[in-house]
Amino acid sequence: MAESHEAGEPFVSVYHIDKRFHTEVERTDRVLEIAEAFGLGLDDKEFVVFDNQPIEIEQGDVVYVTGESGSGKSTVLRELVGKMEADGLKVADIDKVELLDKPLIDQIGADTGEALNLLSIAGLNDAYLFIRKPKELSDGQRYRFRLAKIIESAAKVWVADEFLAVLDRTTAKVIAFNLQKVARRVGATVLVATTHTDMVADLAPNLYIEKRYREKIHIVRSQEGYKTLETTQ
Ligand SMILES: Nc1ncnc2c1ncn2[C@@H]1O[C@H](COP(=O)(O)OP(=O)(O)O)[C@@H](O)[C@H]1O
Ligand SMILES: [Mg+2]
Repeated sequence: MAESHEAGEPFVSVYHIDKRFHTEVERTDRVLEIAEAFGLGLDDKEFVVFDNQPIEIEQGDVVYVTGESGSGKSTVLRELVGKMEADGLKVADIDKVELLDKPLIDQIGADTGEALNLLSIAGLNDAYLFIRKPKELSDGQRYRFRLAKIIESAAKVWVADEFLAVLDRTTAKVIAFNLQKVARRVGATVLVATTHTDMVADLAPNLYIEKRYREKIHIVRSQEGYKTLETTQ
C-alpha cells in the first residue's frame, strides 16, 4: 500500500517498487562452452531491476517512462498499476481494452458526435476508418483506437505501455499532446512507457522517469506549472 497524504491535500502517493529476479543458468554443453570462452560465472544470481525505489505520484500527474529495451519500463508500469489498484484506484490499461467486432463508430461514445470527438483526439481522423472494424486496422490504428477507449473510460489512471511506439513521430507527438490535454482536463493520472524520448515537449510530463540498466534510474519532477499552464488554456 502507498503512503498517502491527508484529506484536503493534493492526493500524493509514494509507491515503493522492488523487483528482483533469481536467475539460474541451465548448464547445457553450449552454455558451458560459452562460460569457459568468456569467463562467465554460472552461480545463481540475483538480477535487480528496482531496488526498493520510491516513486511519488500525485493524482493527475503525467508520468513518462523511457529507457532502453530490457531496462524495466514494463515492469514499473505493471508494479505501479498493481499498487494503484490495491489502493482502490480504477485503472484503464491499453493492453486490457476489449474490442468488439463492430465498426469503430459503433463501439465508442454515447452518440456519433462524441464518438467522432474521441476518435479525433486519438488521431483517427479518416472517415474511411470510422466504419471499419478493429480487425481491419493496422497495429498503429488499433493502438490509437484503444487509446480513444481509455480516454472514454471513467478511470482515474490511464496506462499505455509501448506508447505510440509504432507510429510515425509526427503523428505520435500530436496524439501525445492531445492525450495530456484531455487527461489534465479530467484530472486523470497518465502512465506511459516507450523507448522513444521525443515526446517531452508534447506530453509535458510532471514526472520523467529514465530507467537505466539494472537498478539504475533517473527521476525528474518538473517544476510546478505544467499543470497550471495547461489547464488555464
Ligand atoms: N522471469 C524473469 N527472470 C529474469 N529476468 C527477467 C524476467 N522477466 C523479466 N526479466 C528482466 O527484467 C528486465 C526488465 O524487463 P521489462 O520491464 O519488460 O523491460 P522493458 O519494458 O524496459 O523492455 C529485463 O532485463 C528482463 O530481462
Ligand atoms: Mg516493455
